[in-house]
Amino acid sequence: MAEFAAKYGPWALITGASEGTGAEFARQLAAKGLNLILIARREGPLDALAEEIGKAHTVKVITATVDLTKKDAATRIAEIAAPFEVGLMIANAGADTNGSLFLDRDIADWEALVAMNVSTTMKLVHHFGQGMRARGRGGMILVGSGACYGGLNGLGVYCASKGFVMNLAEGLWAEFRHYGIDVLNLILGRTDTPAHRKILEEGGQPIPSDMASPVDVARIGLEQLPHGPIYNWGSPNDQPGFAPQSPDARRARIVMIEEMSTAYAAKK
Ligand SMILES: NC(=O)c1ccc[n+]([C@@H]2O[C@H](COP(=O)([O-])OP(=O)(O)OC[C@H]3O[C@@H](n4cnc5c(N)ncnc54)[C@H](OP(=O)(O)O)[C@@H]3O)[C@@H](O)[C@H]2O)c1
Repeated sequence: MAEFAAKYGPWALITGASEGTGAEFARQLAAKGLNLILIARREGPLDALAEEIGKAHTVKVITATVDLTKKDAATRIAEIAAPFEVGLMIANAGADTNGSLFLDRDIADWEALVAMNVSTTMKLVHHFGQGMRARGRGGMILVGSGACYGGLNGLGVYCASKGFVMNLAEGLWAEFRHYGIDVLNLILGRTDTPAHRKILEEGGQPIPSDMASPVDVARIGLEQLPHGPIYNWGSPNDQPGFAPQSPDARRARIVMIEEMSTAYAAKK
């Protein structure tokens, strides 16, 4: 525990920290002795989590409401975090809550998703990377999705944004390891978060029984942090994962996943 805090402390900043995987990262980091800066849009859930953590641990917890889709989100977060030494940055928020085909949604909704997953994520990595490089230590977890491995029906912008995150993480892992900074793209499959349940319910889809638990995701994410650049949820690091290379294999993947989702929705 002391080793973890010495490498990644004394403060951790988590986006999308009010529930699900973000909240679990917060609980588990508090147990490891890290102080926390928790970011989300809703004040109530953030304050409730801060109170819960405050009762269980002696760490300091700061909360701030920031909308990550806004242009100035990263600047605001940098200002909030300025007095603190952030040794771990977890860019957790990033689901596609549009749940829609591309043309059925206003372009502004897709721009918001790109702003959160691409621009704000990149700016946060750039900002917090400076302090970590100066200190010669630190870590970044960019929470990703298996959607990063190629475009999928109804998920084009989401897949593209998560592909950006994976490529960014791989490139920066190569650079940042020379500064003592660990970078991990934690590539998730279906996970039992309130946000994901809401998307399934809104789409009229059944709740799968085999979703990953946020507790396991946070635990394994923190364990895997020194072993970047990517971790495929549920797969050992020496397995190739779901990343077909040839055009034929990529086309087959798109069609197969579309057929799987259609068959799954029809079972309801
Ligand atoms: N759940 C899954 O099945 C699944 C599968 C693959 C990958 N992932 C990845 O796992 C991560 C977490 O996913 P999730 O299902 O928990 O949904 P999520 O919407 O990415 O995360 C929920 C958290 O993010 C906050 N949040 C959402 N939009 C925000 C915004 N615009 N600005 C600030 N905070 C925002 C929410 O609080 P507020 O509402 O208060 O802002 C909440 O704390 C994402 O990166 C997602 O892509 C999830």
